[in-house]
Amino acid sequence: RKGNFEHFMEKEIHEQPDSLTMTMRGQLIRGGEQKAKGILLGGLKDHLKTMRRSRRILFIGCGTSYHAALAARPVVEELSGIPVTMEIASDLLDRQGPIYREDTAIFVSQSGETADTLQALEYAKSNGALCVGITNTVGSAIARGTHCGIHLNAGCEIGVASTKAYTSQIAVIVMLALLDKDMKELAALLMDEQSLLVFGRGYNYATALECALKVKEVSLMHAEGIVAGEMKHGPLALVDETLPIIVIATRDASLNKQQSVIQQLKARKGRLIVMCTEGDAEFMCPDGTCRFIEVPKVQDCLQPIINIVPLQLLAYHLTVFRGFNVDQPRNLAKCVTTQ
Ligand code: M6R
Repeated sequence: RKGNFEHFMEKEIHEQPDSLTMTMRGQLIRGGEQKAKGILLGGLKDHLKTMRRSRRILFIGCGTSYHAALAARPVVEELSGIPVTMEIASDLLDRQGPIYREDTAIFVSQSGETADTLQALEYAKSNGALCVGITNTVGSAIARGTHCGIHLNAGCEIGVASTKAYTSQIAVIVMLALLDKDMKELAALLMDEQSLLVFGRGYNYATALECALKVKEVSLMHAEGIVAGEMKHGPLALVDETLPIIVIATRDASLNKQQSVIQQLKARKGRLIVMCTEGDAEFMCPDGTCRFIEVPKVQDCLQPIINIVPLQLLAYHLTVFRGFNVDQPRNLAKCVTTQ
């Protein structure tokens, strides 16, 4: 229905404040006073790691959708640090341009049905690229054919001239560029918690203690680092579906024991965040009930250097989200000169 407007195009141009709000709603992490604290883009969550490791991002589309990607390209390039190339779908197909396994190909289409874009999607898939869809039509061929994607949620666009989809496409791509690093996202999820447990053992017993100290010290959230062997001697009583628990289970001589800890915590429906070696997530928790912090494998004795960094970032982001002073925590001094 056109309502008070003479044409759909005019109506859809005027709808843009609402369509843009709808596009952004649900993709943002809300903080206090309705202020946005970060970006989620939940439809991409299982593929974010692959996207971040891409050698190149290709935006592929036609007409207005291509222009939207072109408008947002500079911010993607600047913030992701990944080279971005632009492809008009038909031209890519005419040239049979090179696409590689290490590429992320992002298909932008209002309808999700444009033949050239769809054919380019099949081409990119056959070349092994990760394929991401940005469409305005749930269940469209491009939405179904891509590995993951984002729904524009701009509302139905009836006028042939694409207007509100263009602005929503730009907004979504900018959000993609601004997408939070993993630890910021995790901190956003944990910011309102009262307490956090961190289980480590062996080389990473100290990592658990140090993570808990950092979280307490700056974010003013209660946290406890625990040697995992002590779990059954008391801490297990705390475990329920709500208390967040980090288990450090990177590959070293303690891995089997930490896997058993994870099983026991899962049996009590523990809310687990498992720190594991890159590529181990599936095998550590095949039922997908855990969140993961994946880190690269190094020599066992050096692993604590790697493992603490994301946990330091977690403490940092928690503090910012909770609104506390990061550099001068309450009651603390850099140098304690009194006893
Ligand atoms: O549905 P799509 O976004 O894939 O359509 C691509 C183009 O056909 C489309 O944007 C076209 O350029 C517009 N109708 C122009 O206003």
